[in-house]
Amino acid sequence: MYTAALERHLALIERALPTYLPQPSGASAVTAEAMQYACEAGGKRLRPVLVLEFARLCGGSPEKALPFACALEMIHSYSLVHDDLPCMDNSPLRRGKPSTHAAFGETTALLAGDGLLNRAFEVCVAPQNRIGLDAECVLRATAALADAAGQDGMIGGQTIDLQSEGRLIDVETLRELHRKKTGALLIAACRMGSILAGADQATVEAAASYGAHLGLAFQIVDDLLDVTATAEQLGKPSGADEENEKSTYVTLYGLDGARRMAEEETDAAIAALAAFGENASDLRALTNALLTRIS
Ligand code: IPE
Ligand code: IPE
Ligand code: MG
Ligand code: MG
Ligand code: MG
Repeated sequence: MYTAALERHLALIERALPTYLPQPSGASAVTAEAMQYACEAGGKRLRPVLVLEFARLCGGSPEKALPFACALEMIHSYSLVHDDLPCMDNSPLRRGKPSTHAAFGETTALLAGDGLLNRAFEVCVAPQNRIGLDAECVLRATAALADAAGQDGMIGGQTIDLQSEGRLIDVETLRELHRKKTGALLIAACRMGSILAGADQATVEAAASYGAHLGLAFQIVDDLLDVTATAEQLGKPSGADEENEKSTYVTLYGLDGARRMAEEETDAAIAALAAFGENASDLRALTNALLTRIS
């Protein structure tokens, strides 16, 4: 899925991420263990890869953006821990192994999710993680992360997702659901990387526009894969959306309609990369690869 250049970002992330997590110690060690478990390798790391690549594209340093990329992956991982809980999607499998609540119990999984959300912002504001970065840029990147994770972003989207179970919702509501629950963190990734590199407002907005189209395409493909792929391929159960009576692009438009929309959003995402010229060839390749991914 990743070109060699993006694989280098991935390697940086896999190495750095565990170092930003709390070490298990003392009487509360189990929560730190569950936080580590939830962030272990197995995910695609798409959001942090986007942070580093937009930092590079905008003339900044991927290394300096690395703590922020890891913070975003912590928030994404927390969203998955909570998404899998019995009170939400009730899923026993994630990233090819038992979900955090299946491995540690519900109370520890809940706290580990809370812990990851909190840790993400500790990492963003820690002085040693801001060396060589402009203070205003750090503030704006951190604010972009907070906004995307919150009520107008991922949490709002998860709310609509759960409220839409077993109901027929209209197209606008479905679009809002996807834009918030999945789009928001992907948009934040593109924003954060470009902001940390000191990009001007027009460039940050071009990055965000790419993230918005990619986010929609990404969640439509997630909806498709839930129907067409196996649990072994996905590392999470397939058929879960039907079981939970979710409203998805597949339930509203059918497999062919959903696939066509994923293609349109992919094309729109690639068009938004025009602002970044030839330099964005790795991202163009990634955007196309995400359309045909199998996990
Ligand atoms: C899963 O995200 C949840 C969605 C927003 C669709 P990913 O497909 O990025 O999950 P990982 O991080 O690779 O496990
Ligand atoms: C979850 O969407 C998006 C989040 C904010 C976690 P899904 O419920 O479709 O994600 P999967 O299919 O369980 O990974
Ligand atoms: Mg869900
Ligand atoms: Mg789910
Ligand atoms: Mg899904």
